Amino acid sequence: MRCWILRLLVILSTANRMGTMRLQCSKEFCYLYDVSSQEDTFAYQYIPKDVDILTVENVMMEHVDHSILDGVPSFIDNLIIQNSYTLRWISVPQAVGNLLIVTSNLRRIDIEANSSMTYLGVSLCDLVKVPDALQNARQLEWLHITSCKLQGLNLASLCDNAHLGTLNLMGNKIRYVVNTSTRYCGMYDTLASITLSENLLTTVNMELFGVLVKMDTLYLHNNRIRALAGELIHSTVIELRMDGNKLMDLDLCGWCVPSLTRILLDRNNLTFIPECLNMLTNVSLFTMRSNQLSNFSIESVAGMNNLRHLDLSCNKLTMVSLQTVNFPANLELLNVDYNNLTALDLFFIPVKVALQVRVSFNLISNFDVSVASRNVTQLTMYDNLIVCEWNTPLVRERNRCNKTEGNVLLVHNARLRSVCRN
Ligand SMILES: *[C@@H]1O[C@H](CO)[C@@H](O)[C@H](O)[C@H]1NC(C)=O
Ligand SMILES: *[C@@H]1O[C@H](CO)[C@@H](O)[C@H](O)[C@H]1NC(C)=O
Ligand SMILES: *[C@@H]1O[C@H](CO)[C@@H](O)[C@H](O)[C@H]1NC(C)=O
Ligand SMILES: *[C@@H]1O[C@H](CO)[C@@H](O)[C@H](O)[C@H]1NC(C)=O
Ligand SMILES: *[C@@H]1O[C@H](CO)[C@@H](O)[C@H](O)[C@H]1NC(C)=O
Ligand SMILES: *[C@@H]1O[C@H](CO)[C@@H](O)[C@H](O)[C@H]1NC(C)=O
Ligand SMILES: *[C@@H]1O[C@H](CO)[C@@H](O)[C@H](O)[C@H]1NC(C)=O
Ligand SMILES: *[C@@H]1O[C@H](CO)[C@@H](O)[C@H](O)[C@H]1NC(C)=O
Repeated sequence: MRCWILRLLVILSTANRMGTMRLQCSKEFCYLYDVSSQEDTFAYQYIPKDVDILTVENVMMEHVDHSILDGVPSFIDNLIIQNSYTLRWISVPQAVGNLLIVTSNLRRIDIEANSSMTYLGVSLCDLVKVPDALQNARQLEWLHITSCKLQGLNLASLCDNAHLGTLNLMGNKIRYVVNTSTRYCGMYDTLASITLSENLLTTVNMELFGVLVKMDTLYLHNNRIRALAGELIHSTVIELRMDGNKLMDLDLCGWCVPSLTRILLDRNNLTFIPECLNMLTNVSLFTMRSNQLSNFSIESVAGMNNLRHLDLSCNKLTMVSLQTVNFPANLELLNVDYNNLTALDLFFIPVKVALQVRVSFNLISNFDVSVASRNVTQLTMYDNLIVCEWNTPLVRERNRCNKTEGNVLLVHNARLRSVCRN
């Protein structure tokens, strides 16, 4: 870690009036502490010209208005305001380009018309809605409002942000996503990444996202989603995270998502593989760890020839059927750790390259290594009634299968399942 204090160029402190403002600078950045009035801004003139980050720490004012921020030197590219519990309202002048406000009681942001702001991050604050003033920030490319108190998202409130590429509203109290715009929005053509994770969503209409023609990632994980409404018809979306919700079933039959490559459904309440999953032929990662599956047939992913990783660990599987001629030809990893399998049949596994199978923490007593397909190049099988294991052909020949103590195992496995919660 760089010890910047040794390289201080400027240390300025005042103890005039009531205030105790201080300025400390290194080569690249300055800290301005305890600003309590417009008079304290005289300190800006001592900021060295090669500094481009100014951090204002502990602002002791409810309203940071133009008189406070207008004088920030133009060579400051990044303005950070942090640990300012008094702050409730900020008025951002046109010239501020990148602004980060971390840990405050901020509940109002005003932005001057024709703002040059491209980057706005607000974290740990009291905002309850996406500020209307963002319509003045037409250059905005990146917006994060995280760990605040937002209650909902109306896509219409960002309609005029025609450069917005990244929207992250993680960790708020968002209960709904709507779009009340009755006109075409510039943002539809630019928004690429949407993060709404760790909110209070219970249902989401997937059709809303259809208009966002550049969207590649949609993160809805760790909400309380029980059901999805509508169908996702989307040609560019690559990754969909729905893990950590309360989905009981999922029907993908009407979806059209040709670019989708990763779907995460861990920690839901699904009892079946989603219907029509195998129509999503570009998917390479599919995870359903910690759900309620009780049986699985490889037929439900038949023909998914881009599928590489399939994770069904931490379910209630008592049987898996892996026999099909339509076996996903490029599957590399099948993880069924932490289930209740009693038998395993790896007789016919027609994959192009090699498959790694994980079946640790099951109750397998019935497994015939001598007929297992050579296409299974790695097998991990800790904690079963029978234990066989190999990671090379040589080990496979040498290492005989061993039997273990069944009663111990049951207790043991139940306890180890605590890992399935995350
Ligand atoms: C914003 O820009 C427009 C046109 O570029 C101009 O007419 C208007 O006066 C500007 N407003 C401000 C507050 O600078
Ligand atoms: C938002 O998107 C729709 C299409 O989904 C679009 O027609 C309109 O501009 C906006 N309004 C609503 C209600 O969806
Ligand atoms: C499928 O995914 C690959 C990347 O894994 C991508 O290059 C290709 O364009 C995708 N296909 C379609 C139809 O989007
Ligand atoms: C999962 O579904 C079962 C019914 O199938 C229900 O009893 C249980 O409460 C659900 N769990 C969660 C976390 O929603
Ligand atoms: C799989 O489980 C479901 C219920 O969980 C049951 O309806 C179905 O018959 C089972 N299929 C097989 C092949 O056991
Ligand atoms: C697995 O089987 C054991 C013994 O039959 C049972 O006690 C346990 O509840 C089962 N676990 C799951 C997740 O189905
Ligand atoms: C191994 O995979 C090939 C396809 O790559 C297939 O033709 C062959 O039948 C498989 N063998 C076994 C024993 O699974
Ligand atoms: C089976 O037991 C033998 C002797 O203890 C040991 O060398 C071998 O590694 C064991 N094999 C497995 C797969 O655990």
